[in-house]
Amino acid sequence: MPYGSRLAATMTRRLGRECVYTPSARLALYLALRRWCRPGARVLMSPVNDDVILFVVLAAGCRPVQAPVSVWDGNIDAAAVPDSTWRTVDAVLTTNLYGIPDRVLELRRRCEQLGIPLIEDAAHAIGTHVDGQPIGTFGTAAAFSLSKHVAAMAGGFLAVEDARTRRELELLRDDLLTPSRLRDDLSVTLRPLARSTVRTLHLVRPVWRTMQRLGLLERDAFRMALHAPRLTACARSAPSLTAYEPWVSVDLHGFRVRHGSLVRGQLNLRMSRLDDDLTRRRAGVALLAGTAWASTALRERAVPDGPLPLFRVPLLVQNRDALLERLVDHGMVCGYVYDPPLDDYAGAEFVEPSPAPAAARWFASHVLPADPLSARRMTGALTRERAATARPSFPVAVKDATPPAPLGQ
Ligand SMILES: Cc1ncc(COP(=O)(O)O)c(C=O)c1O
Repeated sequence: MPYGSRLAATMTRRLGRECVYTPSARLALYLALRRWCRPGARVLMSPVNDDVILFVVLAAGCRPVQAPVSVWDGNIDAAAVPDSTWRTVDAVLTTNLYGIPDRVLELRRRCEQLGIPLIEDAAHAIGTHVDGQPIGTFGTAAAFSLSKHVAAMAGGFLAVEDARTRRELELLRDDLLTPSRLRDDLSVTLRPLARSTVRTLHLVRPVWRTMQRLGLLERDAFRMALHAPRLTACARSAPSLTAYEPWVSVDLHGFRVRHGSLVRGQLNLRMSRLDDDLTRRRAGVALLAGTAWASTALRERAVPDGPLPLFRVPLLVQNRDALLERLVDHGMVCGYVYDPPLDDYAGAEFVEPSPAPAAARWFASHVLPADPLSARRMTGALTRERAATARPSFPVAVKDATPPAPLGQ
């Protein structure tokens, strides 16, 4: 039996696509890029994304090309990508940021016309559908993360179109896995429990502040340190996961570890609770979408088909950074802030900058990713903090002036 086949079978039943189990979504994305993109390939992506994903693209030997994004959700604005860019890209990588779907129908049409792969990053979007079809089934391949929706701190999938490709990718994956040790498995199993205990005992604030003071947090800012000279030197080894491991492993050190049955057993259990998790997320999204801080796009999406079961709810607020600090005093640490956009962060040596960076800059610096599972506490805290709603102050291009149309569940 291939490694992780029970978990993969569960995901295949949910999605209706062949799935390969991986210890993380980042490894799944690396596999997809290695399988469908030659070294030097130009990959169109949103600059409002986790920096880890930028390093995955670089590790695969590809050139990250930053796209214009929608000011409403931070995902690629396909219509604003210049024709000159479309003519030269070799693949498209979506984000489905916070679970809000990318404009996948338009992106798929473009990719089909150009004969290039559409790789879906569905790490934030396990329960998101477009026209009744799950995100992760539109493209050539899609990566999912169990660290997100079921808070596992391990686990992912690569969904592909057929069994032959799945078998090929299982072999490629096995070559990249590193052996597990009991100590790693215990730590992966116990860390989510420790985290939920800290929350239940209302210890988030003292624990977070102590870690900050002792320098125990992996990041001092929203972005990890780039270490540009070392990164330049690594390019000589690309494609290579090992060379880029210091960047790719940030926030998830076991991203390529072949976890044993202890971890996989726990993941099976967490997967069985996924639908309950999604139901609770929908309730939280419904609440947050009705607040003044929700973007119009979010509110309109919530109307006809019920709310999306988002991973995080993008609220748009003024003085976002100061507010994030104050929220810690309310026992809430909001992660998943991708600011500045990747082109401002990494520069032209490592990424091709977006031709229209304003929307990405604005969205990245105003979005507050709220956990829908803490919706009530979040609205209470934002009200007490008198958080002010942010709206773009620069002219929004006509084609992006209205939020995307409501999407079906
Ligand atoms: C958009 C996005 N894609 C992929 C990943 C990688 O997921 P994993 O931690 O399972 O490797 C992350 C991680 O936060 C992410 O934010």
